[in-house]
Amino acid sequence: MKRTKINVLLMLEKTPGEILIKGWVRTRRDSKEFSFMEINDGSCLTNIQVIANNDLKNYSDIEKITTGTSLSISGKLVASPGKGQKWEIQASDIEIINIAPESYPLQKKRHSDEFLRTIAHLRPRTNKYGAIFRLRSEMAFAIHKFYREKGFRYLTAPVITGSDAEGAGEMFRVTNLDPEMVKKQGKMDFKEDFFGQEANLTVSGQLSAEMFALALGDVYTFGPTFRAENSNTSRHAAEFWMLEPEMAFCDLKENMDHGEELVKYLTRHAITECSEDMNLFTSFVDKSLPKLFDILLNTEFGRIPYTQAIEILLKSKQKFEFPVKYGTDLQSEHERFLAEIYFKKPIFLTDYPKEIKPFYMRLNDDGKTVAAVDLLVPRIGELIGGSQREERLSVLKKRMEDYNLPMEDYWWYLDSRKFGSVPHSGFGMGFERFLMMITGINNIRDVIPFPRTPGSIDF
Ligand code: 4AD
Ligand code: MG
Repeated sequence: MKRTKINVLLMLEKTPGEILIKGWVRTRRDSKEFSFMEINDGSCLTNIQVIANNDLKNYSDIEKITTGTSLSISGKLVASPGKGQKWEIQASDIEIINIAPESYPLQKKRHSDEFLRTIAHLRPRTNKYGAIFRLRSEMAFAIHKFYREKGFRYLTAPVITGSDAEGAGEMFRVTNLDPEMVKKQGKMDFKEDFFGQEANLTVSGQLSAEMFALALGDVYTFGPTFRAENSNTSRHAAEFWMLEPEMAFCDLKENMDHGEELVKYLTRHAITECSEDMNLFTSFVDKSLPKLFDILLNTEFGRIPYTQAIEILLKSKQKFEFPVKYGTDLQSEHERFLAEIYFKKPIFLTDYPKEIKPFYMRLNDDGKTVAAVDLLVPRIGELIGGSQREERLSVLKKRMEDYNLPMEDYWWYLDSRKFGSVPHSGFGMGFERFLMMITGINNIRDVIPFPRTPGSIDF
């Protein structure tokens, strides 16, 4: 017989009679004549109750079944007299695949997130982490669905790059030079290295996406991104997933319209398509989530220039750890104040001073600011960072000179401004930050399967 997954089985309107399920024991308890087991197979949050009668041939083994044990169960699906469950299984045959000894760490009690991080290989077997990673999977699909419906093309940007998209440090080097040789020579000779030059893991697929937007029109990249910044915060990971749409013939306003539409679409998708898992977050992680969803779905996001945000922050009576000053980047505490306390909704900040933003952002007519945009959201701070790109070759070259960037390394990027250049825009959205926002989970380490952060690469 073919195995039925529990999520499918729970939706059945009438019993098919005999069925076969496979899964893991969450709990087991005995009465005189029966053993009751809650079985989960990962297909959904809900367990199915299995009843094993003491006349089963291996009942003495069944009585020894522990939490975490894997089973194959055939039996009859029958209406459950129990409250809150439609179906249960009257087992006719229980095959023990593998017993989990008492040392199985996920016994029935609440475990802290910190502890569960130390067993990241087992935590998806808990209710909360099962829900997180099912949601993560569904939201990745929702991203592709959204873009497909909008006629965007999916671009798989390279992970190993020879360029530094942001013009900043903080990259992970990729090399296969022999450490012994490097020691002997006293330096790394990149000419001898695999690519014949320095290579790094990508910090952003943007520059690739720009080239493809100027060919295919609207594109997006969605993949792993790497940053070696040593910021041990709850919102930074060394490896995270970034979604990056890039749109030809698109200005900053349309870029923001797009970002707002995206966030609303994904939020709605999570609520409608993952209702069971989402209920866990609204019930047990953050009871104020429904209020946030209402704001995300039903209010227009705010839009103000950076300068105005600085004025608001300076006028606020709020005590900040980091001082607010025009011309400096906002800290997460400032971003959260604006979104959470002042505006009480997501807010786009635009037109940042050019000095604190990368070379590729379009210079505004004031000559001082660039067409940058960050979306700040409650509890998270920055969710999206992007801009309208500088499409004018001469202005772009001037900006690159100001940043002392080696023009010859960017010859192909400059080509795009030479040949049929058009106004275009895009942004990056941190996938984990989005998941944190809609689940109420406070630490990025808890929405990534196996987190990579400074000093930590277990599993
Ligand atoms: O603001 P960022 O650095 O923008 C870029 O990389 C642009 N090239 C994107 C573009 O225009 N195509 O990063 C974009 C988003 C941030 O807003 C944040 O949500 C997320 O990526 N992010 C991180 N998420 C987790 N850990 C980190 N270390 C992150 N750094 C950025
Ligand atoms: Mg940013």
